[in-house]
Amino acid sequence: MLEEDRDYFWFELDGEKKLFTENLSPGKQVYKEKLLNKKGIEYRNWEPFRSKLAACIMNGLEEFPFREKSSVLYLGVSTGTTISHISDIVGPKGMIFGVEHSSRVARDFLDRVAVYRKNIVPIIQDAKKPDEYFSVFSKVDVVYVDIAQPDQTKIAIANCKMYLKKKGILFLVIKTRSIDVTKEPNRIIDEEMQKLQTNFDILQRIDLKPFDKDHAMIIARSID
Ligand SMILES: C[S@@+](CC[C@H](N)C(=O)[O-])C[C@H]1O[C@@H](n2cnc3c(N)ncnc32)[C@H](O)[C@@H]1O
Repeated sequence: MLEEDRDYFWFELDGEKKLFTENLSPGKQVYKEKLLNKKGIEYRNWEPFRSKLAACIMNGLEEFPFREKSSVLYLGVSTGTTISHISDIVGPKGMIFGVEHSSRVARDFLDRVAVYRKNIVPIIQDAKKPDEYFSVFSKVDVVYVDIAQPDQTKIAIANCKMYLKKKGILFLVIKTRSIDVTKEPNRIIDEEMQKLQTNFDILQRIDLKPFDKDHAMIIARSID
């Protein structure tokens, strides 16, 4: 082991330092990621080309609010790549409410991820209707939004107003090309940050290149 971080780990794999999380569901892979056994503990390689949160860590994320026992609301879980690593990190006493509106995608997520991980509560709903998530029973430490919608920032704010704790952290993936194809990516990010400024302190913006060339991440702390 090269060095141990808070809730993720760096190990040497194929001659390179790579990111790992401790597998909460030993023996199970989610997206054919490599498994590594160290002193009887199984770890899963967290691939930055597959997960934008891993790409953020690789590109210098300063505030990592996912810890053992954290609670998270995750919008746009898709087939569960990133949420599976957050599930490893928050552990059996943590809780992640995972929202996905496509029932086809959600079926994969349920079969391959949620069924093996008791800290994930799947919510098959539209993120535009946060008042309809009947299973979110408390406010959360982190809201993570990756829904690739033109009005994603508005949706993120509405969800945070209902479910994010005061001083809680928002991770907002900005798909720079899906909002307006004619605009400069930097201008798109600036405009989305402006929409957040009334309710959030912006902590960091991270370009996800070379792992992902069409996205950036905004990390912000809720003021109220
Ligand atoms: C880019 S993918 C997310 C990838 C995933 N976050 C990961 O890192 O593993 C975006 C997902 O958001 C979902 N989505 C889009 N609009 C949504 C909405 N209004 N409510 C819920 N899910 C939505 C899509 O069906 C899709 O699965």
